Amino acid sequence: MAKLHSSLPWQKIEEERSIVSHYRVQVNRFLSVLVCLLTIIPFSRSNQLDGLQFCAFGESECGSLSSTKLLIKGGTVVNAHHQEVADVYVEDGIIVSVQPNIKVGDDVSVVDATGKYVMPGGIDPHTHLGMEFMGTETIDDFFSGQAAALAGGTTMHIDFVIPVNGSLTAGFEAYTKKAKKSCMDYGFHMAITKWDEGVAREMEIMVQEKGINSFKFFLAYKGSLMISDELLLQALKKCKSLGALAMVHAENGDAVAEGQNRMIDLGITGPEGHALSRPPVLEGEATSRAIRMAGFLNVPLYVVHVMSIDAMEEIAKAQKSGQKVVGEPVVSGLVLDDSWLWNRDFTIAAKYVMSPPIRKSGHDKALQAALSRGVLQLVGTDHCTFNSTQKAFGIDDFRKIPNGVNGIEERMHLVWETMVESGQISVTDYVLITSTECARIFNIYPRKGAILPGSDADIIIFNPNSSFEITASSHHSRSDTNVYEGRKGKGKVEVTIAGGKVVWEGSALNVQPGSGKYIEMPPFSYLFDGIERVDATYLLSLNAPVHRIKAAT
Ligand code: URP
Ligand code: ZN
Ligand code: ZN
Repeated sequence: MAKLHSSLPWQKIEEERSIVSHYRVQVNRFLSVLVCLLTIIPFSRSNQLDGLQFCAFGESECGSLSSTKLLIKGGTVVNAHHQEVADVYVEDGIIVSVQPNIKVGDDVSVVDATGKYVMPGGIDPHTHLGMEFMGTETIDDFFSGQAAALAGGTTMHIDFVIPVNGSLTAGFEAYTKKAKKSCMDYGFHMAITKWDEGVAREMEIMVQEKGINSFKFFLAYKGSLMISDELLLQALKKCKSLGALAMVHAENGDAVAEGQNRMIDLGITGPEGHALSRPPVLEGEATSRAIRMAGFLNVPLYVVHVMSIDAMEEIAKAQKSGQKVVGEPVVSGLVLDDSWLWNRDFTIAAKYVMSPPIRKSGHDKALQAALSRGVLQLVGTDHCTFNSTQKAFGIDDFRKIPNGVNGIEERMHLVWETMVESGQISVTDYVLITSTECARIFNIYPRKGAILPGSDADIIIFNPNSSFEITASSHHSRSDTNVYEGRKGKGKVEVTIAGGKVVWEGSALNVQPGSGKYIEMPPFSYLFDGIERVDATYLLSLNAPVHRIKAAT
């Protein structure tokens, strides 16, 4: 577990700035840190977080740990479509100016980014923090999951609200409570698990009053979250009228149940049975079905955690025909293969159980290629962590292993290593797939996903010549395992700035529960542009109803 070292100086003070000012800043910072450290709230739930310390005051007091005025000097500023050497000046959490050689006064903290990339903080479109699932609750909540995210260069995530007994309002309230301890900005998607007039009305409230612009439909998890095709059709129509994005977990849940029974009948009860019971064909079928229904209704569709060539090819085919389908791979699908599930050690094998399953080698490379071609547009994590005790609920029956893997802290480094370092994409494309495209799809660009005047100051400083290494002993998740254990690579997020404050520097985290903001996301993103025209063309093409002359009787 990484330790907090926030009393160490984190910024290089420019030589020409006065020595007196320098010492004043350091003394103030030292005193603030001392006061905060003396009042640390003990975090009792986990040993993993014992080393992670955070300020126990309200934001205004501990905010003095970081200046509200910040200059990031001399880095290569990278946006999704452009990069240039420039300074970035930040005041009160907002980017004020991006241009070369910005001059500032003594009251501004300066971070030297020479030789490094200055990029928008990552936005993870797919997480589950504090989620109750499969008889247990994820080990990472909104604080530990977000602390881990910040340590890995992600400054915003969008989590899935699960309704309470089908009620969206109760689900929203429950998640609002869970998210009170947030230390970075977040938004919500909402799952739909049942259908009636009340749910349809609640969808309107979520979009028009609560800042939610996306709904997720599970075509898997029979008996819990899974919905029928009939419900999906009704809800897709509702999404279209509200300008909300429909998202699907695409696996055929009925066939998965059949596959699971088959494995149990064959005496296959271990984690390998998980992958064998839900092969790629079931993901391909459900992806195709959801795409065709969305096409039939002319509504944009977002396919979450695309794990197989089968699903990816359905998306590519639909896009070629002009349909608006977004494909989201997750880090585990891009960099892992299913061989781990056959490991003889249950604890190791079980940590790789997620749905849809991590696929055979070959799917990973095909998904990477699809990402570099733009068939898949943005990378999520599906961060949904259970520790080895929780995973052991399924020691005798793979169907009881809680589904989910980590990734919120590792995503930025692994995507860099796999996609940029390997030469598959450019640095600007890296920004696109880790941040900007997510902001565009969920309609919060350029507030998020950009380094532009007026954007939120969620920024990372990335050193391409440094290196990273992933281990459960040093990560910030509460989980005792990590599916990327031992991975090393080039490139390192050296500084994370969230809301204009330095929250991660070197290996020191300075995070405050309650400092994260809920980001409302308005409906009718760019994906809805032109929808009406397509509808009009369709109506014209019908050449119907035919007005027939009724024969006289
Ligand atoms: O295994 C997974 N993916 N767990 C999280 C729930 C989901 O399906 O996204
Ligand atoms: Zn899912
Ligand atoms: Zn998920």
